[in-house]
Amino acid sequence: MEFAKLGTSGVEVSRVALGTWAIGGWLWGGTDVEQSVRTIHAAVDMGITTIDTAPVYGFGLSEEILAEALGRRQVPREKVVIATKFGMEWDEQQNTWRNARPERIRREIDDSLRRLRTDYIDLYQIHWPDPNTPIAETAQVVKELYEAGKVRAIGVCNYSVEQLDEWRRHAPLHSVQPRYNLLERQIEKDVLPYCREHGLAVLAYSPLARGLLTGKFTANPNFKPGDSRQTDRRFTGENYERNLRIVEKLKVMAAEKGKTVAQLAVRWVLDQPGVTVALWGARTPAQIQEAAGVSGWRLSQDDLARIETILNEADQEAAR
Ligand SMILES: NC(=O)c1ccc[n+]([C@@H]2O[C@H](COP(=O)([O-])OP(=O)(O)OC[C@H]3O[C@@H](n4cnc5c(N)ncnc54)[C@H](OP(=O)(O)O)[C@@H]3O)[C@@H](O)[C@H]2O)c1
Repeated sequence: MEFAKLGTSGVEVSRVALGTWAIGGWLWGGTDVEQSVRTIHAAVDMGITTIDTAPVYGFGLSEEILAEALGRRQVPREKVVIATKFGMEWDEQQNTWRNARPERIRREIDDSLRRLRTDYIDLYQIHWPDPNTPIAETAQVVKELYEAGKVRAIGVCNYSVEQLDEWRRHAPLHSVQPRYNLLERQIEKDVLPYCREHGLAVLAYSPLARGLLTGKFTANPNFKPGDSRQTDRRFTGENYERNLRIVEKLKVMAAEKGKTVAQLAVRWVLDQPGVTVALWGARTPAQIQEAAGVSGWRLSQDDLARIETILNEADQEAAR
C-alpha cells in the first residue's frame, strides 16, 4: 500500500481509500450489512487505512456499519483515518437537500461522532456547496471544531476554484474531494492545478466511474430497483456506448500489462500530478481486494500516451 500526507494537516492516508457510499445502500439499490462488514474488514486487512463515508449514505447506515466493522475487529482508533462529511439534510421520504448552516453542522458532528462511536473525526468535509449559506459562516464553525480537536483535518467536496478561494479566506483547508476518473476529467482545467499550487490534497471520487471502468458492464446493464445508475448519463444512450468502447480498448491494454481495467483506471488516477488518494467504492470483499493490484507500479509515459489516444479516438468516433 502507498501512503501520502493529507495536505498540510499531518494526517497520513493510504493512497487507495475505501469509499462506502454503496455500503449505505441509498441510490445503489440497497445494501447487505454483513457483506459490508466483511468488505471493510477486507480493506483493513490489505492495509487500507483510510475510509470515506457520509451521514447521507444510507441516512446514517454507512457510518454505523463502519463503526460496527471496526468495533468487531477491535481496530485501534488511531490505525484508521475516518473521513466523513456534513451539509446534507434529509427527511423520512428520503428527500435530500443541502444545508451547511452553523446550527446544522453543530448537530451533525455530534450525530456522526455517535454513529461512528468515536470522539474525533480525521477528515471532516462539506459534502456539496450550499448556495443558501455564506461559505464564511460554514467555514467559521468548522474552524472551531478543528481548533477544539473534534476534527483533525478539513476538506471540501464538489467545490469550484472560486469557492475554494472563499473558504480559505475564513478557515484552514487541507483537502478537496472532486469527481475524477478517466472518463470525467473536468477538474484538470482548474481545480487540480489550484490544489497543486496551494498544497491541497485531492481525494478523487468515483475513480471507477461508478463501476463502469471495471469492465463488467455490457450493452444492456441490469440494475436493481433504486440503483441510480439506471438513469445516470454515464450508463445511458450514446454516452454509454462510447464509454463501453473505451473500456474495451482499455481492457486489452490492461491485460497486456497483467492488470485488470479497474487497476489500470485507478493507477491512472493516482499517477496524475496532484492526486493524493483514489476513493475506491466497494461493497464486497472481492471488489476491494482487486485494489491490491494498484500499488507498487506506475504507468509509463508511453502508457499514458496510449490512454490519451484511446480517449481521443472515442471522441473522434462520437463526432462522426
Ligand atoms: N463527495 C461526493 O460528492 C462523492 C460522490 C460520489 C462518491 N463519493 C465517494 O467516493 C467513493 C467512490 O465513488 P463511487 O462509489 O461513486 O464509485 P466508484 O468507486 O467509481 O465505483 C464503485 C462501484 O463500482 C463497483 N465495483 C467496485 N469495485 C469493483 C470490482 N472490483 N469489480 C466489480 N465491480 C466493482 C461497485 O458497484 P456494484 O457492485 O453495484 O456494481 C462499487 O460500488 C464513494 O463510495 C464515496 O465514498 C463522494
